[in-house]
Amino acid sequence: MQSIRERFPIFEKKVYLNSCSQGALSIDVQEAYQAYLNDWDEKGSPWEYWVERMEAARQAFAGLVNAEPGEVAVTTSVSAGVAALASALDFNGERNKVVVSDFEFPTIAQIWHAQESRGAQVVHVPAAGNTIPISYFENAIDDQTLLVSITSVCFRNGSKLDVPALVELAHRKGALVLLDSYQALGTYPIDVKQLKVDFLAGGVLKYLLASAGLAYLYVRKDLLPRLQPTAVGWFSQANIFAMDIYRNTPAPSARRFESGTPPVPNIYAGVAGIKLIQSIGLERIEAHIADLTGAIKEGAMRRGFNLVSPVDPAKHGALITIRSHKVDLLVKWLEQDGIVTSSRDNNLRISPHIYNNQRDVDCLIDGLTRRRELLV
Ligand SMILES: Cc1ncc(COP(=O)(O)O)c(C=O)c1O
Repeated sequence: MQSIRERFPIFEKKVYLNSCSQGALSIDVQEAYQAYLNDWDEKGSPWEYWVERMEAARQAFAGLVNAEPGEVAVTTSVSAGVAALASALDFNGERNKVVVSDFEFPTIAQIWHAQESRGAQVVHVPAAGNTIPISYFENAIDDQTLLVSITSVCFRNGSKLDVPALVELAHRKGALVLLDSYQALGTYPIDVKQLKVDFLAGGVLKYLLASAGLAYLYVRKDLLPRLQPTAVGWFSQANIFAMDIYRNTPAPSARRFESGTPPVPNIYAGVAGIKLIQSIGLERIEAHIADLTGAIKEGAMRRGFNLVSPVDPAKHGALITIRSHKVDLLVKWLEQDGIVTSSRDNNLRISPHIYNNQRDVDCLIDGLTRRRELLV
């Protein structure tokens, strides 16, 4: 077996440190796309097999987060899954508030604001620098709160929220919890039963090492009967091939949150990416990322750069951010040096994964030192 890094050809040319935007392409995912083309070419229209592949994708994700396959909807984006979930919530009962942290990815907050016309009231929980104190959530969550919508790791600054404490708080006040784990999946073990979240969303294109067009929504089993989405399609029906135009008959499982024709090519890739992650092991990945993020923080602080992510390793994810006063230029100059990063706000985003090594970190710190005037 080749070393993990050798399975990612991009490292022959670049120092790739941008997994928070898009995971690097592996030989495994390349082969998966080729397998899709071969199946299409050789078999023509093997839809039964492709629907089986979709079930394989559901099982792969269920295995990854310790859910039952019937609790997992296979979607084309986090937005699609969360929008379907939102369509199933009733904002006209005793509870109509959705509490949203200021660390959320825009799509999440936008979906909740779109529910205002259906009676929802959106309450934002502000950040205090690179953290959101639990007391801010305590002030926002009350007995009218239907849902608390939080992220595992903030896409802007890499900060982690204290998910177990927030789930405990929300449940104590009778509210449900949606966890957006896009920036965490593939970087450390996530267990929906242990976390006790009600809903979890995430996709495969970042640390799960696949590509755009495949995502998931986990819905806790006992909530399913009372959640009837209005954003539906033929793949959300109890019997997909019933072709019944006279009624909407949602599947009893989380499949009710699905929509139309599944993203078959992305399913091949997604299954390959998840398999690769699981063959390496999430504990090993977590430890490796912790070594690299530790080295990045140490190198940045030693040179006097302004770290935006928390210094405490328990309080950030795989994403480390550093303040720059000309971040677009910094990303461009690093790119010219063969170092791939990204930015949000004024933060340079550096996101190592299992395929990176200390040489990549040294290269990055040297590159940043050459562009010092954009950082201090
Ligand atoms: C935390 C987080 N949530 C959601 C998304 C977007 O998800 P999608 O485009 O699949 O709706 C992203 C994408 O960058 C993200 O980082």
